[in-house]
Amino acid sequence: MKKLKYLAAIALLSISGGCSVIHASAGYHPVLIAHRGSSAIEPEHTALSYTRAIKDKADYIEIDLRETKDGRLIAIHDKTVDRTTDGKGMTDDLSLAQIKKLNAGKGEKILTLEEIIQKFGQTANYYIETRESNGSLVMEKKLIDILQKHKLISSHKAVIESFSGKSLKKVRSMNKKIPLVRLLKDNEAEEINDKQLQTIRTYADTVGLNAKLANEAVVKRIHHNKMKVHVFFDKEDEHTLTPIMLKQKADGVFTNNPAYTRGVLQNSK
Ligand code: G3P
Repeated sequence: MKKLKYLAAIALLSISGGCSVIHASAGYHPVLIAHRGSSAIEPEHTALSYTRAIKDKADYIEIDLRETKDGRLIAIHDKTVDRTTDGKGMTDDLSLAQIKKLNAGKGEKILTLEEIIQKFGQTANYYIETRESNGSLVMEKKLIDILQKHKLISSHKAVIESFSGKSLKKVRSMNKKIPLVRLLKDNEAEEINDKQLQTIRTYADTVGLNAKLANEAVVKRIHHNKMKVHVFFDKEDEHTLTPIMLKQKADGVFTNNPAYTRGVLQNSK
């Protein structure tokens, strides 16, 4: 009898716990996207930066993709390796072997996409940016193949973002399931209208734009068109605009320091 009462009490607790989870998920839970990892604290796009982002409870680690001369997908933002490493040159003029000799900060190496996925596996969510390479679409098929090989699409662990509508459409034609984020250049964001949003909605689920242009009217317009809004920042604006973007209920917020943004989010509740 005692055991029965105990089980009933546990069941009741689970039910009320369940309710509170339902209540919480009905609230506001923007996704935090660690921009190049925890890049305010560690060298961007390195294992240190991604490890720190995951430790600080980012929902996604963001990865900018570029191709090496020998066609490998690596995580680096700039066209050249000059700013982020001790080397010089165009990323796509260097082989992976040459790139691996560079110091990307604190002795870290530039990583291939596969190395990042092998390191973090299903413990991370990946927010991956494609770009055109001199007007050509060279990375989409390789990217989808890698994501499929590691079962990251079927487990809902990957999102693809791009300023290139062409790139996202190519991804969509190869895979219907992966969530896509169409990033807007500032001149596109300044003039965005319902018709353009409806066109974007034919291939993407979310619109990403610079927070400095994401005023209340723009956020409402995107929501009205049944898409989500993710906002990124110029580095110098992040601390001023993060609280404003959370107040405006952006669905996703980029951050160079997930611990900071997580703190602002907690304090805003
Ligand atoms: O990735 C989206 C946002 O961070 C802006 O683009 O690639 O210049 O950092 P990026």
